[in-house]
Amino acid sequence: MRERALIAEDNDDMRDLLQEVMEDAGYETLVAANGRQALAHMEKEHEVIDLVITDVRMPEMTGRDLLAKARALRSETPVIVITAFGSVEQAVEMVKAGAYQYLTKPFENRDLLRMVEEALERSAAQREQARLRRERPTAPPRIIGASRPMRELFDHIALAARSKGAVLIIGESGTGKELVARAVHETSGRDGTFVPVNCAAIPAELIESELFGHTGSAFTGARQPRAGLIEAADGGTLFLDEVGELPLPVQPKLLRSLQDGAIRRVGANVEKSVDLRVVAATNRDLEQDVRDGRFREDLFWRLNVIRLNVPPLRERPFDIPLLVEHFVSKATEATKRPTLDVSSEALAILTAYSWPGNARELENAIERAVAFARGTMIAPDDLPERVRTSGSASALIARSVEQNMTIREMEREYILEVLRRTGGNKSRAAELLGLDRKTLYRRLDEYRAEGAPGL
Ligand SMILES: Nc1ncnc2c1ncn2[C@@H]1O[C@H](COP(=O)(O)OP(=O)(O)OP(=O)(O)O)[C@@H](O)[C@H]1O
Ligand SMILES: [Mg+2]
Repeated sequence: MRERALIAEDNDDMRDLLQEVMEDAGYETLVAANGRQALAHMEKEHEVIDLVITDVRMPEMTGRDLLAKARALRSETPVIVITAFGSVEQAVEMVKAGAYQYLTKPFENRDLLRMVEEALERSAAQREQARLRRERPTAPPRIIGASRPMRELFDHIALAARSKGAVLIIGESGTGKELVARAVHETSGRDGTFVPVNCAAIPAELIESELFGHTGSAFTGARQPRAGLIEAADGGTLFLDEVGELPLPVQPKLLRSLQDGAIRRVGANVEKSVDLRVVAATNRDLEQDVRDGRFREDLFWRLNVIRLNVPPLRERPFDIPLLVEHFVSKATEATKRPTLDVSSEALAILTAYSWPGNARELENAIERAVAFARGTMIAPDDLPERVRTSGSASALIARSVEQNMTIREMEREYILEVLRRTGGNKSRAAELLGLDRKTLYRRLDEYRAEGAPGL
């Protein structure tokens, strides 16, 4: 299919020339003698205009105004500006405002054609990228991760978003289950609201009326009839967080609603149909809860249609530097501080630590470090004690493996580290190391001779 260019130029000779050059090169053309005519073309046939070539100064509507309208109408259509010597400044302004490039008159035909070709190639590439983004949202909003388990999770989120089946998110505390639930909702294209319900936080005696709502007469004492959280999620997504904490008595009623796509408010005789999508999350072993009789098996199977496992942070240390960067900018933005770097030693410690509290623990550690940091750098000292201690110990092992250290070199590193931690107290260090003092002194003499710093 031939690409079609719209040419807006008030000078007849120039317009004819542009048209001829473009047609000879195999493009289809539409012509306009000013911006207003050009815009009329775009509004009528904007679907099939691949490129706009426009003059700057024209009567009725200038190239600049045309550019603004064209961008509002269809921002991906490239606009090339043809400018006379006297209007170069305006042409530059137009490029800043989103035009592809400008060309000064008089120009060589081949320069024009090369520019046209590049502009079309670029807009085709942009369209392709937009299409890929639409079809396969690789990283759903705000979830950071590039490790293989996270990329797999992104794929599964995309699949889950396309289906209407219930989603069960399993993962340790702080792994980002709520983020995953929101991502499923946001990529699912459901127009309604995302309604999070923390099943652990609602008292057992209130949960039924919170979920299903109630009529005015359901309780003693005058109360307003009220819609429940399930109704609020009509057309959207109901997120049952910590679903393992859902009290047993309310489970059959929830199951019925999910099966029938209908709810009955507490005290009501009539059912109301709802368009429901349920996403549930838990850090418990729900199968075990089922075996122990603490969770209904039928409800479990109803919720466990699509299962998303969120891997703990220690299984994807690869993602730690990315998360650190993300949390640092989040914290500096929130506190309006200038952005901070993370020293490579601090990063090594952060990467080596096992993060039992997962991303949430990391986020808290970074918030604290940002508050503590002096100057422009986050240093090991700014990290929480427990992270620093176990992180630097495993960082030492990791580094020794990477650098092919010998046992002797490792011993040296270890002895020097212990000495640093005792604040240079050699008797205390010897005690901790299980060495007699004489041996420690001999070792330190050797290290000093080898040029170890700080001795
Ligand atoms: N992959 C990630 N990218 C960016 N931020 C993350 C990521 N994972 C977790 N977080 C952040 O860590 C914090 C904890 O995440 P979230 O609340 O989703 O965890 P959770 O799995 O629901 O935990 P819990 O089981 O304790 O409720 C949030 O502030 C979240 O924004
Ligand atoms: Mg949560």
